[in-house]
Amino acid sequence: MALFGKQLIAIDLGTTNTLIAIHKKGIALREPSLIAVKKGTSEVVAYGDEALDLVGRVSDDYEVVRPIQEGVIDNFQLTKKMLATYIMKALKSTRVNCEVVISVPSNITKVERKALVDVLREMGIHRAMIVDEVTVSALGMDIDITQPMGKMVLNIGGGMTSAGILSYNEIIQHHTFKVGGTDMDQAIVDRVREHYNLVISLETAEKLKLALGTAKYEKLDEQDEMEVSGLSVATGVPSTARISVKVVSGAIDRQIDRMVQVCKTVLETIQPELASDILDTGIYMTGGVALLRRLPERLQSELGLKVTLSQHPFDDVVNGTVKLLQDLRVESKRIERSRR
Ligand SMILES: Nc1ncnc2c1ncn2[C@@H]1O[C@H](COP(=O)(O)OP(=O)(O)OP(=O)(O)O)[C@@H](O)[C@H]1O
Ligand SMILES: [Mg+2]
Repeated sequence: MALFGKQLIAIDLGTTNTLIAIHKKGIALREPSLIAVKKGTSEVVAYGDEALDLVGRVSDDYEVVRPIQEGVIDNFQLTKKMLATYIMKALKSTRVNCEVVISVPSNITKVERKALVDVLREMGIHRAMIVDEVTVSALGMDIDITQPMGKMVLNIGGGMTSAGILSYNEIIQHHTFKVGGTDMDQAIVDRVREHYNLVISLETAEKLKLALGTAKYEKLDEQDEMEVSGLSVATGVPSTARISVKVVSGAIDRQIDRMVQVCKTVLETIQPELASDILDTGIYMTGGVALLRRLPERLQSELGLKVTLSQHPFDDVVNGTVKLLQDLRVESKRIERSRR
């Protein structure tokens, strides 16, 4: 099978993070989906972790761009540059000489899918397989989806919340909504501005979310707070404030409600047999936001379902994509043998 002639790689091109795994070798690259350019040009000065270091610390002549927004390509040229750089880094090669399996959100439009195919084609990758994120999330978590038994997967990343129910190797029902960790960060920026008259960056907001964020505020959180720096709304000069858990958890509450709603939308439409399976097995949760404190408890109490948290929420999609590759390889060998 020609697909397996060259180096074969799996890509998770996420809103926040990009991961690349090489067939039989494992994860070879893990970088933020970020690129720093000279403003108004496509002249790149840094990628990934290096670009992250520049955020807020360079003059207005530069800008740090997220070429993937809400799970899909937002900036074609910069996505192409970023992906080519990452693939060469992962392959330790100066050429993009590979065949690709890449995951995309389940509800991606034809136009969005075409943009991805065009990016790969312009990079010289003419053989690519596009796979569904919900399915590979399940495979990455080692969930058996081969049996006629419903399993529910929830992936919450930087830009997207995707929920799906799988059974007998198929997606029976799925729903994706453009809400994720980045929306929480923006909500924290807005809330801190309102409450403390302080303008903070999205990166500072993310730090607050990681340190203080919780899906369920409890009395024991009362004392926890974190000092952050920003610019005073009133004077425009650098200033600091001590931010409480209550403010952070209040800020992200609406986003969590939307994530719960994504699950409800999927659950509302399934057959009673599948519903009974999901009552038994619950929800398998992955993606970076799955690590938000007390999110499993909140989902559990609002949906009445057991929630199992992945052991490797950042890696499941790329690991599941590799697994799918391996399964395909075994299958193609079996077909080849049967033809002899
Ligand atoms: N401990 C944590 N608590 C809350 N959020 C977290 C935690 N750790 C990471 N995150 C958030 O997880 C998000 C990144 O997750 P992930 O890498 O799964 O996203 P992605 O795959 O790049 O995005 P998407 O799949 O939506 O395109 C970021 O918004 C990050 O702030
Ligand atoms: Mg993701």
